[in-house]
Amino acid sequence: MHSIRNTRLLDVLNDKGVDRTPIWIMRQAGRYLPEYMATRKKAGDFMTLASTPELACEVTLQPIRRFTLDAAILFSDILTVPDAMGLGLYFEAGEGPRFKSPVRTPEDIKNLGKPDPETELRYVMDAVRLIRRELNESVPLIGFAGSPWTVATYMVEGGGSKDYPHIKRLMYGDEGALHRLLLKITETTIDYLRAQVDAGAQSLMVFDTWGGILTPRAYHAFSLHYMQRIVDALKKSHATTPITLFTKNGGMWLPDIARTGCDAVGVDWTIDLRDARALTRDNVALQGNLDPGVLYGSKSKIREEVQRVLESYGEGERHIFNLGHGIHQHIDPENVEFMIETVHELSPAFHRK
Ligand code: CP3
Repeated sequence: MHSIRNTRLLDVLNDKGVDRTPIWIMRQAGRYLPEYMATRKKAGDFMTLASTPELACEVTLQPIRRFTLDAAILFSDILTVPDAMGLGLYFEAGEGPRFKSPVRTPEDIKNLGKPDPETELRYVMDAVRLIRRELNESVPLIGFAGSPWTVATYMVEGGGSKDYPHIKRLMYGDEGALHRLLLKITETTIDYLRAQVDAGAQSLMVFDTWGGILTPRAYHAFSLHYMQRIVDALKKSHATTPITLFTKNGGMWLPDIARTGCDAVGVDWTIDLRDARALTRDNVALQGNLDPGVLYGSKSKIREEVQRVLESYGEGERHIFNLGHGIHQHIDPENVEFMIETVHELSPAFHRK
């Protein structure tokens, strides 16, 4: 039993029937929305926005007010965790995230802090509590974290990267040190996700943006293994909270991801949902996978591609409509609204209820 009014997302995650396919959008609170840009301007910079609970709550709610979405996602970032571990996160205009003190040596790894979620990351928990209050049981709230591998990539590179020279040097030069780093991040992430659920998050998602740069062996050893630990830990302590794992470019590993015991798997646009469904044998819900680039197209093109995604999943109760990755900054919000309304219109045909 859920007290919330719109239970579609949780119903799909729990394998109950739904009247239409639920939809939310990765990065739904973001720069494509003029109201987001106005609030960010008021905050001054991204970190102030993310670390002021009232402002984080405000931007979380903006897409919920504007569109008919089936879930809210906490406004924060996967890099708040390494920031709290002592790396000093900042955003350089036009350059993305950067760390003042990247992790490079075994000594750096040893010196990393283990933040307490209700102390160093209290602003996130306060935001979760405030958002739940403001949502007033309308739609569920999704909490999230980065995968240990993806977070480690940023920590070691010191920011975004093209070739990942530092973390690959560590991976092929001192595997033990990388495992010690991943374990520390994993332990912090488990505490962090547990605290989000205790504060009010009703579903969890783990973003593995960079798992797809690994060889199959390395993916299993350095990325999936630690996501498995997160799933195991959360299932022990918070068994009723669904968990979604998303490895960008991880299509060929879908059967292994589905076997972790997670409830849903995020799918990018490089794999057909028909194939993804066959690979995961309907043991998990699938979330995705419209190419965000479709939203640059005309309304008739958007409609055609929405229909294509719905058809590729086919009839069934375990599809959550989403993009295959985050929405781009220069998308027109009117096209987003059209996509959402089109999912509302076309998806009931794929459900029994
Ligand atoms: O989805 C949502 O609306 C919730 C908020 C959210 C943000 N980041 C807000 C944000 C979530 C779930 C994230 C996750 C995140 N952050 C990931 C994993 C998902 C993915 O996109 O692959 C990653 C890799 C990051 C790290 C990060 N944060 C980068 C690379 C950047 C800069 C590049 C970019 O896309 O802008 C950020 C900043 C960031 N996080 C913004 C937002 C809305 C843009 C900041 C701004 O206002 O300028």
